[in-house]
Amino acid sequence: MKIEEIRLTHFRNYGNLTITPHEGINLFFGQNGSGKTNLLEAIHFCALGKSHRTNSDAGIVQQGETEGACRMELQNQSGRRTIAVRFTPAEAQKKTILIDQKKIGRFSDMMGCLQCVIFSPEDLGIIREGPSVRRRYLDMMISQINRGYFIALQQYRSGLEQRNAILKTMKTQGGSNAYLEDFEQAMAMPAQIIVEERRKTVEVITELARETYAGISGREEESFRIQYRSSLSKSENIQEDFLKMMRENREQDVHQGLTLAGPHRDDLHLTLNGQDMRVFASQGQVRTAALSLKLSQLKTLRQLSGESPVLLLDDVMSELDRTRRTSLLREITPYQTFVTCTDESDLEESPDKRVYLVSAPEGQGQVVMSKPGYVTKKETLQEPCFT
Ligand SMILES: Nc1ncnc2c1ncn2[C@@H]1O[C@H](COP(=O)(O)OP(=O)(O)O)[C@@H](O)[C@H]1O
Ligand SMILES: [Mg+2]
Repeated sequence: MKIEEIRLTHFRNYGNLTITPHEGINLFFGQNGSGKTNLLEAIHFCALGKSHRTNSDAGIVQQGETEGACRMELQNQSGRRTIAVRFTPAEAQKKTILIDQKKIGRFSDMMGCLQCVIFSPEDLGIIREGPSVRRRYLDMMISQINRGYFIALQQYRSGLEQRNAILKTMKTQGGSNAYLEDFEQAMAMPAQIIVEERRKTVEVITELARETYAGISGREEESFRIQYRSSLSKSENIQEDFLKMMRENREQDVHQGLTLAGPHRDDLHLTLNGQDMRVFASQGQVRTAALSLKLSQLKTLRQLSGESPVLLLDDVMSELDRTRRTSLLREITPYQTFVTCTDESDLEESPDKRVYLVSAPEGQGQVVMSKPGYVTKKETLQEPCFT
């Protein structure tokens, strides 16, 4: 899949902007705070309905404006599509998603239209940080190829929130276990979908990640392995086992005022030569593993959906040494890629790319295509893209 046009209207520091990106590598360079990440954020919004860097939509609309929008025109296997996200913070419906100019009712309807994978320095946390970061990695990947998974996640989370609310009340005021039963029942089917899909996906990525890691490190003897860790990972009848586990845990859950076990506590166990990477990995090994996981995410999406996702690389080039950069460039050839960096030379290894200079004179973002010798063409637009 390829993005053929990006349009922003009152989005972050952009007034009106149109870019017609290259089908290969698009490099955005410019000073800090000029608006490079804002461009990637707009793509992420049109792919997953939310920002990659914040859970809040506050501050998306350009200061001084009441509404803003980002819109991508793309070509995928089913043809040409337009995906737009419109932000109206003062209205009851603060965010509207439009596919081919039609409003969609549910977030799940946009999943998979524009698939993207983002890699930024924070992703090193996938290796070192807590389980929630690794679950997010898995959930983002599977949601983009399986709408049913995304819906199951929403249903499970909603049931979990309500079960937790009851547990909290029971902790202080007591009450009957019967109140928990309905929510446990509502969570059981989604739990099964979540666990089954996570199992299947981990099976695919573990092999890809092992190969990719060996390719980047150049050391066949270093064996990178991913294992799915779940309280239900071995279960053959997930719904039944989930309900049994919920019943057995009720007493301690009430004591804690929290649901202690279930797919919301799943994790990926990452090892290098059998040793836990969270504890033992060097900084270099962490970088290689994070890069391998991201590249495996790209390949997994491609393998399972038949579409090549769009790749977003935010400020990672300067974090990678020449060997890793070369491996990365070799791997990303089939994908349309959007790269940000502060120095144009961060990607000098790649001869075939379109380079854009991003600047923000007086706070207003500008993107200028820069050709050899800096002959420039301003990519701006007069009409807003609110629909
Ligand atoms: N709603 C907004 N209105 C105007 N400017 C904004 C808004 N939100 C963010 N910005 C500006 O965008 C800039 C940050 O852009 P960003 O893409 O993160 O920069 P970078 O080029 O370093 O990646 C900051 O200068 C910030 O003030
Ligand atoms: Mg940035």
